[in-house]
Amino acid sequence: MIVDRLGRQFRNLRLSLTAACNYACTYCVPDGKRLQAAAEELEASEMLKLVDVLIAVAGIEKLRITGGEPLLSPKFDEILPEVMQMGLKDVSITTNGQLLPRKAGLIADSGLERINISLDTLDADRFRSIARSGDLATVLKGIELMLDAGLKVKINMVPMRHRNDDQILPLLEYCLERGIELRFIELMQMGHLQDSGLYTTQYFSMQDILDTIGEVHDFARTDAAFDSTAARFDIPGSGAFGIIANESEPFCRTCTRLRLSSNGRLYGCLSNSKSYDMRDILNLPEPLALARLQQLLKSAMADKQTVSFQGEVTVMKFIGG
Ligand code: GTP
Ligand code: 5AD
Repeated sequence: MIVDRLGRQFRNLRLSLTAACNYACTYCVPDGKRLQAAAEELEASEMLKLVDVLIAVAGIEKLRITGGEPLLSPKFDEILPEVMQMGLKDVSITTNGQLLPRKAGLIADSGLERINISLDTLDADRFRSIARSGDLATVLKGIELMLDAGLKVKINMVPMRHRNDDQILPLLEYCLERGIELRFIELMQMGHLQDSGLYTTQYFSMQDILDTIGEVHDFARTDAAFDSTAARFDIPGSGAFGIIANESEPFCRTCTRLRLSSNGRLYGCLSNSKSYDMRDILNLPEPLALARLQQLLKSAMADKQTVSFQGEVTVMKFIGG
């Protein structure tokens, strides 16, 4: 097991099934950069083999299936039931929800217990102007299907000034009524937002979010899991919400995350473009493969930021958050 000088270990693997996405969110991709074909993706069997070896060698306990949009990938149907059998403590999915109505049966049958769904507004027109695709009613239907199937649902919203900050309270009410944990994600300087004026004008801070909610609700901060991305707040008698405050309250010091991209590269940090090819691991005899993986994990751990997210040229769509 690799432990760095801050005591950090890899526990949490984010597996991106594809870099393709059926949305083109304004904060993720610039104008004109819409749908992009996925390139040089690993096969499902290769991904499963690498997950297996990462569980054994890196000490992975939690797995999150991401994209792009993971439900878009033909691999999803094969990978979900397989990873559910791997003895992990926790498996989850991060999805934009557009294909949930089609995949709800498969997800419910897999035994998955929780799912995170991205939703930035409850206004159908605004939805299309932010996601530049998709349909709000379909996502809402998908959310209801997940709740009906007994899954714990979290919704991720990215509040942006003058864009959807007026949706903070409506989305909060929608979530509180349904026992959903809403998490607000501070806008991150990824991809085209790195060093961009758009980032500066649209950034809506943790304090801005708390001020908005404070106009209507009393709330109190509560403990969150030690390696959680989100700070947690309770609204007594109503529920809870979270804030993923990448800028205001960075959480790098407790980061346990490791990422495997759809083209077979290992990333130690969301705020570092360095990555390592895992394809050769698949072709090496076992003792050599394990030794090579140890080396890669050491390098990936050394890539982690120590204090805070520093901005990253990698597009969120590629790395999957
Ligand atoms: P839970 O296990 O339900 O807490 O999910 P999660 O928050 O770990 O996963 P999710 O995919 O829902 O992530 C939500 C957001 O957290 C991402 O879109 C990113 O904005 C942010 N995030 C995830 N991992 C990291 C990370 O390693 N560093 C930073 N700075 N932000 C991250
Ligand atoms: N800043 C904050 N969140 C982002 N996401 C994508 N790009 C950004 C960004 N620049 C979010 C999506 C989704 C999650 C995977 O990442 O909305 O909820």
